[in-house]
Amino acid sequence: MAETVTQVSALAHVQSYHERSKHRLGAYAAGPETLDWDAQPDPFRRFAGAPLTPLPLDAAEESIGWNQLFEPGREARSANLAQIGRLFELSFALSAWKELGPDRWALRINPSSGNLHPTEVYLVTQGLPDLTDGVYHYAPKEHALELRAAFDGPATAPRLLVGFSSIHWREAWKYGERAFRYCQLDMGHAIGALRYAAALLGWRVRELGLGHVELAALMGLDRAGDFLHAEGEEDEAVFELCFEAINTPPLDLPEVLAGASWFGQANRLDAHPMYRWPVIDAVAQASRRLTAKPTPALPAQARRTLLPSSTAKASQLIRQRRSAQRFDRSARTHTATLWPLLTALMPAGQLPWDMGQDGAQVHAVLFAHRVDGLAPGAYLLPRNITAQARLQAALPQLTWKPVDRCPADIPLVELAPNPALAGTLRALSCHQAIAADAVFVIALLAELPSIKSEQAWLYSDRLREAGLIGQVLYLEAEAAGLRGTGIGCFFDDPVRELLGLGAPGTEAWQVLYHFSVGLPVADARIASTPPYPEPRP
Ligand SMILES: Cc1cc2nc3c(=O)[nH]c(=O)nc-3n(C[C@H](O)[C@H](O)[C@H](O)COP(=O)(O)O)c2cc1C
Repeated sequence: MAETVTQVSALAHVQSYHERSKHRLGAYAAGPETLDWDAQPDPFRRFAGAPLTPLPLDAAEESIGWNQLFEPGREARSANLAQIGRLFELSFALSAWKELGPDRWALRINPSSGNLHPTEVYLVTQGLPDLTDGVYHYAPKEHALELRAAFDGPATAPRLLVGFSSIHWREAWKYGERAFRYCQLDMGHAIGALRYAAALLGWRVRELGLGHVELAALMGLDRAGDFLHAEGEEDEAVFELCFEAINTPPLDLPEVLAGASWFGQANRLDAHPMYRWPVIDAVAQASRRLTAKPTPALPAQARRTLLPSSTAKASQLIRQRRSAQRFDRSARTHTATLWPLLTALMPAGQLPWDMGQDGAQVHAVLFAHRVDGLAPGAYLLPRNITAQARLQAALPQLTWKPVDRCPADIPLVELAPNPALAGTLRALSCHQAIAADAVFVIALLAELPSIKSEQAWLYSDRLREAGLIGQVLYLEAEAAGLRGTGIGCFFDDPVRELLGLGAPGTEAWQVLYHFSVGLPVADARIASTPPYPEPRP
């Protein structure tokens, strides 16, 4: 009984958070009124006193083609330090340093709202030939592993886990109350970055269904003494990398941690924090998964039906990914480019929809601005079959017309033809030109968990799924010779109303993320230098 009451209040909490963190035409969600960029929290967490192991930097040598990543059953490489170096170099490392006037900032392989990077990455290893069994924190600026805990146990079969946490303050510092959403979207991007890099090594990935207490213990985030005077980290998720046998023995966490010796003191990221926005802590707490869920069995991998015409190397596309800051507004694309990109979003057991995720709960509304072969207007790509029926029942006034000449495995339907959508999309995406100058924009829509049936932690799950779709779009845009940009800033209810979701009974359907794709225009004023001084063997 007590548990039901807690779940109901947790659900009420996440629902009220989602409402109050909406941007409205008359007022943005609560956030700081001015920003002192010199006081930005440090984007790099370090643990003073933790032994450091530099990782090799040689991912440029990876020659596997982008399209080869989608071939099921590729041989898995053995897990060792060199492959861990590649895994991280192609997922969470720096990708470049940028300079404009007196400002210098790092970009990373994974994108992040506002380039604020709230996500921290941990590695847990056992039984590897050249790395002490233990818990490591990944330091992206150094591309090195900080040993947080060494395990003292008997030899085991190789095991590799990658864990994630969020430092909400990094994001809340700039974005105020909406920041929790951005941290979860960033988590989805990070999960995608991990999945693609692991695929390059022939490894599969699945989420370990640990609850909040176990997650925090595994990453050492519950060790208050190691975070004295430093910002805490919220545990998010842990993923297992499957490289030898899919059925690695279950993790016996108390046994693994029993003989652990811990090292390191977290650095303080903000010397003068002006902490506000207690609603972020409250929603983070409400959306924790308190009990474990079963770790999914890995499904058989499916071959992708339509591939981009790209001959690029996967490592090249992953390393060159950037957010476009401006698009060429005269550019057009073609359905021959769009169709493979849309198949990549379908959860047909292909990369990255092969981690045993529960169903596809986030759906894409395509706003085609300039796509030859597709009339300008709004289209729906339902990612599971029942969602279309539910949406159709909610929105009978729309066209619901199948799209001519669309490949059979892309269930795209026309919602409303409209040649004038680009200007509307710009206005509704916080007046950002990238939403109008793109060749197309995708809005991601989901039914949020309802009080009757579901659990509060599904709120984070939906946002992460939207972020993972965003990561697919970033990489597929590069493979198509275009470029993408995530758009977290949009006016929530006006977008819903544009789709016809303003009527009573449709409240559960909410828009979680926008994503624009177009032909980028480079900003010649910004200088770029390599991410690390020189290659490392
Ligand atoms: C969740 C999310 C939301 C974002 N929202 C916006 C946005 O509203 N407008 C924008 O211009 N860029 C947006 N971006 C792009 C980021 O600013 C960009 O990822 C960051 O500056 C790092 O640059 P990079 O992607 O080139 O590495 C968003 C990115 C993410 C992941």
